[in-house]
Amino acid sequence: MSEAVIAQKSPIPVEVKAGKSYFWCYCGRSAKQPFCDGSHKDTGLSPVKYTAERDGRVFFCACKQTGKVPLCDGTHSGL
Ligand code: FES
Repeated sequence: MSEAVIAQKSPIPVEVKAGKSYFWCYCGRSAKQPFCDGSHKDTGLSPVKYTAERDGRVFFCACKQTGKVPLCDGTHSGL
């Protein structure tokens, strides 16, 4: 299995809709960050489904090192 790569060292804000599901890129290789575009093929890694509980802005992790997958927990600041 491949390691996740850092897409960028800051989170990506996204306006989400309550009840809608999003597929967060875990491998770091997607060109459509923070979401999966299928580039994880052959890495052994898979996207993570996130379903929004309410409308609003959330900050998705882009360094792929967060402990609160798929959202930013500030880990990027120590990279
Ligand atoms: Fe990264 Fe799918 S492209 S998990």
